[in-house]
Amino acid sequence: MKAAVIRQYGQVGDVVEVTDVPVPAVRPQDVLIEVRAAGVNPVDHLIVKGFMASGELSQPLVIGSEVAGVVTAIGDEVTGFSVGDEVFARVDPRVGGAFAEYAAVHASLVAAKPKALTFEEAAALPLVALTAWQALTEQAKVGEGTRVLIHGGAGGVGSAAVQIAKHLGAEVVATASAGSVDLVRELGADRVIDYRAERFDEVLSDLDVVLDTIGGDTQERSFRVLKPGGTLVSIVPVPDAEAKQAQWNVEARSFYMRPHGEQLARLAGLVESRELQPIVETVFPLSETTDALLKVERGGARGKTVIAVRP
Ligand SMILES: NC(=O)c1ccc[n+]([C@@H]2O[C@H](COP(=O)([O-])OP(=O)(O)OC[C@H]3O[C@@H](n4cnc5c(N)ncnc54)[C@H](OP(=O)(O)O)[C@@H]3O)[C@@H](O)[C@H]2O)c1
Repeated sequence: MKAAVIRQYGQVGDVVEVTDVPVPAVRPQDVLIEVRAAGVNPVDHLIVKGFMASGELSQPLVIGSEVAGVVTAIGDEVTGFSVGDEVFARVDPRVGGAFAEYAAVHASLVAAKPKALTFEEAAALPLVALTAWQALTEQAKVGEGTRVLIHGGAGGVGSAAVQIAKHLGAEVVATASAGSVDLVRELGADRVIDYRAERFDEVLSDLDVVLDTIGGDTQERSFRVLKPGGTLVSIVPVPDAEAKQAQWNVEARSFYMRPHGEQLARLAGLVESRELQPIVETVFPLSETTDALLKVERGGARGKTVIAVRP
């Protein structure tokens, strides 16, 4: 099968190649997915550069973290899925393998694809929607009336988080650059701040939760807008978290999302009820995986970049 692989860690332009590799073996608890489309995320170019690496690669690594496609085989121990099912999943980051014609994925990570979505739309959701869901519900306990600031509201995670926070009943402020302000408002944000024109920490205060997708100076200034006892949840590192908590009298933590088929099925329900819509910005063919990764690496996302693997 064709797949985008790396044989060594390095810069995207130097080490990513689309080549022929064997179809992955199906373990007893796996489903084999004929991939139609795969979403691209910042973690993919980080993995290419060696993020999460435990040593040099001993064999080519198929990259790609989220997938939508059709089940073509099931492992002996799998229940709940059949050949022909249309599915989507955030694949196991240690196994990888979404930028390929076939991906073997543990069945516990897989959910039925929302019928209303194309494969390209469905492939844009699993990683970012699970991240947003876990940040808002598990880490920050967002609910009715919670006042939340979401940074990077037009990005992959931010665009899902704005919609999920509204579903949870929150009052949502988001930051975005000028060209994305209308998009983020359409996603449901009550207020959108063009972060280059206005300093959010000069106009916001007493918030319950900040979802930080940016880090650095943005994270640093986010502590100022929280009320005492508020929560900063970050998907990038929080340096000196304990000292920051004490200084600002808030909770501050960073977390790493985990793949989760049952939560993904719940998020598919939000798609069906039209409360969650993936935003697909650009679609590349598998042969142009390098360009897709470079686009995501450059930043400035308005939704997701997707790789179309099969028509
Ligand atoms: N911990 C986890 O489990 C986890 C999961 C997913 C992602 N992540 C990480 O989280 C980060 C975001 O991921 P993503 O997929 O959402 O990335 P993305 O799709 O590239 O989106 C980032 C968004 O932030 C905007 N932005 C850049 N600088 C900003 C600023 N100072 N203030 C407000 N917005 C700003 C960008 O647009 P403009 O440049 O036009 O403003 C873009 O829309 C990445 O570092 C990724 O690796 C972590």
